[in-house]
Amino acid sequence: MPTRIHAIHADITKLPVQAIVNAANASLLGGGGVDGAIHRAAGPELLRACQLLAGCDTGDAKLTLGYRLAAHYVIHTVGPVWHGGAQGEPALLASCYRRCMEIAAAQGIRTLAFPCISTGVYGYPIEPAARIAVATVRSAVQTFTEIQEVVFCCFSDSDLAVYQRLLREPTWE
Ligand code: AR6
Repeated sequence: MPTRIHAIHADITKLPVQAIVNAANASLLGGGGVDGAIHRAAGPELLRACQLLAGCDTGDAKLTLGYRLAAHYVIHTVGPVWHGGAQGEPALLASCYRRCMEIAAAQGIRTLAFPCISTGVYGYPIEPAARIAVATVRSAVQTFTEIQEVVFCCFSDSDLAVYQRLLREPTWE
């Protein structure tokens, strides 16, 4: 069966998927935005688990359990800060999505949800960020066929509209 890739407007901490992705910072020790919401919902055990990970490079990802979340796992990834787009931001953002898919597949995770990585505090414009998210996930599911469902979890109707438009565009392969 082909992987279901779709977008919704929701609070990612509430989603009943096997793994949610956290848009973290390189310390992995929490922050604001979706990172703060995930740590609050998962409880203090998540911070203790993250303290053992020794941080994470931009474009990479690391796995923990989800503790008090409905999701069994959290995949923490560090998106690039937007500096105008000519400092490697697109490749780093694509790497975030790719590494999360790799880690999910290696862990046997079949359903996962992404927030709009880097598009909050890190300032990445939603349109090019969503385009990279959709293209990278569409490509990765060709390799990681065991992943059954990928949710793009948007936190606003305007972000959702961008994803829905991009997901309606055909894949040219
Ligand atoms: N569910 C889904 N999406 C959410 C939620 C939620 N509960 N809360 C916020 N968002 P941001 P970044 C959306 O700033 O740009 C943190 O302090 C939000 O509306 O959380 O990658 C980290 O520690 C936006 O669309 O992450 C880092 O320091 C998206 O999540 C830094 O922010 C990402 O916004 C990372 O910045």
